[in-house]
Amino acid sequence: MSVIKQRNDPMEKRAVSRIVEGIPATDGAGVELTRVIGSPTLDMLDPFLLLDVFRSDDPDDYIAGFPSHPHRGFETVSYLLNGRLRHKDNAGHEDVIGPGGVQWMTAGRGIVHSEMPEQEGGLLAGFQLWVNLPASHKMTEPAYQEFDAGRIPVERRQDGSEIRVIAGRTRQGTEGPVRQPLTDPLYLDVTLPAGSEFSEVVTDGHNAFLFLFEGDAELVDVNGRPVALRPDQLAVLAQGRQVEVRAGVAGARFLLVAGRPLNEPVARGGPFVMNTRAEVQQAFEDYNSGRF
Ligand code: FE2
Repeated sequence: MSVIKQRNDPMEKRAVSRIVEGIPATDGAGVELTRVIGSPTLDMLDPFLLLDVFRSDDPDDYIAGFPSHPHRGFETVSYLLNGRLRHKDNAGHEDVIGPGGVQWMTAGRGIVHSEMPEQEGGLLAGFQLWVNLPASHKMTEPAYQEFDAGRIPVERRQDGSEIRVIAGRTRQGTEGPVRQPLTDPLYLDVTLPAGSEFSEVVTDGHNAFLFLFEGDAELVDVNGRPVALRPDQLAVLAQGRQVEVRAGVAGARFLLVAGRPLNEPVARGGPFVMNTRAEVQQAFEDYNSGRF
């Protein structure tokens, strides 16, 4: 007897297929962070290649920053909660990302940039997500989409929930300013009051995760059983349509991120993410010979 895989019910919940803990990592010139995607535990979640979380009020953990380094073949998305980062690239582009601001950088064929704390003390907190580009666009011209907090729409729901929409569109129609049709990303920063319930539709077939960074939350696992999510845990969501989250007694704040998988071979070499080893080798050669 053959087993026929059923199509997902369109109203099916997106259950938690896996919970992932980040691992401590040091990057740049000595920035202490937590790597949640792009680690041995969760290598990638196509099209997402990396998720770093940084949060410290000890300048020793961040002051060294990320001096000049290259990227090719994908996008880096920096979203700050607290503090400021100054960004400079080799094409003369310079800006400061402040609290609640986002920089969606398409590295494309190549960029050399630095990301340095614009502060000597206080809290620096935020995320860097790497989003892959398809083979057809890995060598595209570099580009930026930058929005400070005031230009990121906030959807306020009746129960007091607040949803900052950086990319994509909520079921109530609030649309984020970032445009990327190649991976059609959803990037929400969701704050829920204690005990409230949240639901949101995620595009069919897209890969999705939820990263909790304040409070606690309850979702369901693939067997329909409740599963608790603690701060700094990432839930990989199974296919389905609707994400449902219940906030705990202290409320909850999390990122809900989704995107269209590229289903292409991935060859990584440090700051370069291409489709083949030869292309990564070429990136190193181009960078070393000043062709970025
Ligand atoms: Fe970078």
